[in-house]
Amino acid sequence: MRQLTVITTSASYPVCIGRETLACPEAGQALRAAVAGRACLVISDSQVGPLYGAAARRALEAAGAVAVRAAVFPAGEAAKTLDTVAGLYREAVAAGLDRTSAVVALGGGVAGDVAGFVAATFLRGIMLVQMPTSLLAMVDSSVGGKVGVDLPEGKNLVGAFHQPVLVLADLACLGTLPPREWRCGLAEIVKYGMSLDAALFRRLASETGPLLAGDPALIEDIVARCCQLKAEVVGADEREESGRRVILNYGHTFGHAIEALGGYTGLNHGEAVAVGMAMAADLAVALGRLPPAAAAEQERLLTALHLPVRLDDPRLTADRMLDAMRRDKKSRGGRLRLVLPTDIGRVEVVADPDESLVRQVIGGRRGSA
Ligand code: GLY
Repeated sequence: MRQLTVITTSASYPVCIGRETLACPEAGQALRAAVAGRACLVISDSQVGPLYGAAARRALEAAGAVAVRAAVFPAGEAAKTLDTVAGLYREAVAAGLDRTSAVVALGGGVAGDVAGFVAATFLRGIMLVQMPTSLLAMVDSSVGGKVGVDLPEGKNLVGAFHQPVLVLADLACLGTLPPREWRCGLAEIVKYGMSLDAALFRRLASETGPLLAGDPALIEDIVARCCQLKAEVVGADEREESGRRVILNYGHTFGHAIEALGGYTGLNHGEAVAVGMAMAADLAVALGRLPPAAAAEQERLLTALHLPVRLDDPRLTADRMLDAMRRDKKSRGGRLRLVLPTDIGRVEVVADPDESLVRQVIGGRRGSA
């Protein structure tokens, strides 16, 4: 098992990564430190709950948790809503949770965000343990404390920063991840390579076969590397204030608009971010800030990982995309702020880019090539 520590201004906590961490004694110690003597509500979705709910309960009970209860909500981004959260508050009351209790988020990005938001707000905030079961949640969303829900108007528009006390990633859970969700996680990994780590990017490009096949040693290395990168960024800028953490949003302003305009039932998060990274790179090239060869390299990698780089949903016009992008959390006074690449492994924030160019770039990625 590998363990690293996230140290932010508000909290410091371990991230445990390995196979069978839900049953391993070393991870069990970290879990004991977090939950012994506490009542726990394990929140997961209708796909993950039946698969891993029992293993999570066993791990929690073995670690000394008392009164472990479970709550499940419907799987899918469309359920990442305040209505779902309201239902979970009622379950937390029914389970008798108090301020000494813990919420355990068991699942992918949606479960982590929803359960995390419940933990951040129930009784004004109780303890949170993240047990990510998807590749995306392991490399990104379970670490760093961003929790929240979507509105029809935009993704993640309601939320909080609420750091977990522990992240426990059991790589064995990846064995049941559907291929589309697997690729969704790969998109976030490409994001780390493009925005922060050229060596990681090159490794991904040279190992696309093993990546797609889920080679266990490679995946463990990559999950650990992404968590380390995330820990460094979040340690430097927990609340996205200094301009450091914002770089983790590479591809996300375009991506979030794609998800929201698709009613959260079209492209999934990773697919939308893949198209978003392609658009961001096009824009950076058009602005003369990125060599075209680097954009082409990114496109080759995304395509080799079977991720989309174009849009074929007629609802996603450039005008609608721009409207949705202006509602992004990074916008200021309705003006866009975009994270754009300057090279493989490096990004910058560009405020108020020429909107006619943004429109042109979106238009250029619509329909088949
Ligand atoms: N997923 C971006 C962040 O956590 O800041």
